[in-house]
Amino acid sequence: MVTAGPTYEAIDPVRFIGNHSSGKMGVAIAEELVARGAEVTLVLGPSSLIPASNIKTIRVKSAAEMLEVCLTEFAEKEITIMSAAVADYTPVTKAEEKIKKNSDHFSVELKKTDDILKQLGVLKKNHQLLIGFALETNDEKAYALKKLREKNADIIVLNSLNDTGAGFGYDTNKITIFDRQGNEYLFEKKSKKEVAADIVNTIIQYKK
Ligand code: CTP
Repeated sequence: MVTAGPTYEAIDPVRFIGNHSSGKMGVAIAEELVARGAEVTLVLGPSSLIPASNIKTIRVKSAAEMLEVCLTEFAEKEITIMSAAVADYTPVTKAEEKIKKNSDHFSVELKKTDDILKQLGVLKKNHQLLIGFALETNDEKAYALKKLREKNADIIVLNSLNDTGAGFGYDTNKITIFDRQGNEYLFEKKSKKEVAADIVNTIIQYKK
């Protein structure tokens, strides 16, 4: 299973809180896995990408929808790669009707979303491999290792927003892979297709 893309958290029927994720990295990983003969379920947030028809794609909008699909699909998956940029906060209430611009100031109260990777980390069985992503702007390694530990992932793929040409919207990415054994693998900046191949080459070595 691969998660990809942003999530959109609705404020009212016409507005949402989202992020700049394009879904390119996750879709490239799903394509790479399919090309190597894997049976892939792609859980894709609101991205403009249209994945190839040989990838079983389940479209979701919000973090809550992504969680629901992931919980249903997870048990039977050997490898799960969580590359989606899931919203960390969602509006406490969603207005049923379009909010009119009456007052000069307007606040939206937010509450934390469920951490999907963390929940799957709790459910993970010995034969399953769980891979998370970390997107950081500072103290990258420390935060990546914290996520590896706290979310019970086997591997964390770090991409730093400090690397030019890496991250949201770009066709290139620069990653470092951390595992539970303390190994750290640095990769050059490459196209997302090549990065997907690096990620798949690395993680299949851990397949239990
Ligand atoms: N993730 C998730 N569910 C969330 C938030 C994040 O499954 N509600 C997953 C992402 O798909 C990614 C990993 O957790 O694989 C790390 O995401 P990231 O946004 O880097 O970190 P957060 O855990 O959200 O922490 P912070 O925003 O404080 O860095």
